[in-house]
Amino acid sequence: MSYDKHILWACTAALLTGWVLAFDNGHCSGIVTRPLCNWTCMQLTLQWPGSFCIGLNNKTICKIPETVRNWTIHGLWPMHTGYCCNCWPVFHSHLQEIEPELTQLWPSLIKGKHFFFFWREEWIKHGTCAGSEETMGSPLLYFQAAVKLRKLFDIDSVLESSGIKTSCDVSYKHDDIRGALTPLFGNNFDLQCVTDREGREAWIQLKIHLFRNQTLGCTKQEQEEVLNTLAWFNSPGHPCPKNTTIFYVPINYENPHEPCN
Ligand SMILES: *[C@@H]1O[C@H](CO)[C@@H](O)[C@H](O)[C@H]1NC(C)=O
Ligand SMILES: *[C@@H]1O[C@H](CO)[C@@H](O)[C@H](O)[C@H]1NC(C)=O
Ligand SMILES: *[C@@H]1O[C@H](CO)[C@@H](O)[C@H](O)[C@H]1NC(C)=O
Ligand SMILES: *[C@@H]1O[C@H](CO)[C@@H](O)[C@H](O)[C@H]1NC(C)=O
Ligand SMILES: *[C@@H]1O[C@H](CO)[C@@H](O)[C@H](O)[C@H]1NC(C)=O
Repeated sequence: MSYDKHILWACTAALLTGWVLAFDNGHCSGIVTRPLCNWTCMQLTLQWPGSFCIGLNNKTICKIPETVRNWTIHGLWPMHTGYCCNCWPVFHSHLQEIEPELTQLWPSLIKGKHFFFFWREEWIKHGTCAGSEETMGSPLLYFQAAVKLRKLFDIDSVLESSGIKTSCDVSYKHDDIRGALTPLFGNNFDLQCVTDREGREAWIQLKIHLFRNQTLGCTKQEQEEVLNTLAWFNSPGHPCPKNTTIFYVPINYENPHEPCN
């Protein structure tokens, strides 16, 4: 069975058993009940534009808009084991109200990929599941939640004031970066790195662990159990190693895939 057929089946089953929140002109617009979207933890994943292109297989497809200068949102991901519902559509007009913020904080860094396509992809993969939580129960609410969280965590300033600055020469110990972020997140985060052509470790993502109610927490073990079962969470990168130093590379708009060459 294809993924789409699974979705269709899931929606049909949901309809038959009355697990559907609402209908929009006959479309199933949201499954609210377990087991389809049974999740307890979520992750806000932020990405560093400076190293994002190092992690891509096809390095020619990357482009960092000049307006992007800070950490950006990759996604807000409930840790779920069921299927999300592909039958809950998002339209560009749904997001009009927060489009300026999304454009700044949640840009696509892939050349030629319309920002909305990126947002829609994230909504289909993750948002439809998040929507089983009332506070994120519509496309607009989901994207607003992510934006609110991103703004709540001012990592750009915190890093700067801890002396963790972008550089191609200086690298940092894992513990120094963790230490700088601990006042913001406690222990509720993971660092992800990519390895560049010279074998250096470059910091690429920050995964922030949250409960359903958008507060920090949810144990790592719980998250990892679910993660191991889900291929689509395998975004670029690996946990930053502790036995070597980590580069926090500058954003190179001209040559984004080799920021230090
Ligand atoms: C939902 O998840 C919780 C926690 O992982 C689990 O205990 C429960 O059995 C699950 N419920 C269903 C219906 O899958
Ligand atoms: C990389 O992407 C470009 C632009 O989409 C394409 O023309 C090229 O064939 C791709 N290269 C590889 C190796 O896939
Ligand atoms: C980047 O983050 C800093 C610190 O929070 C903020 O002052 C600045 O306005 C942000 N710049 C952009 C372009 O988002
Ligand atoms: C959020 O959820 C967690 C776990 O269920 C709970 O411990 C915490 O008190 C909740 N926080 C708020 C502000 O509701
Ligand atoms: C660090 O540890 C990893 C795996 O444990 C190993 O593959 C790698 O070679 C080590 N790197 C250094 C610089 O020691």
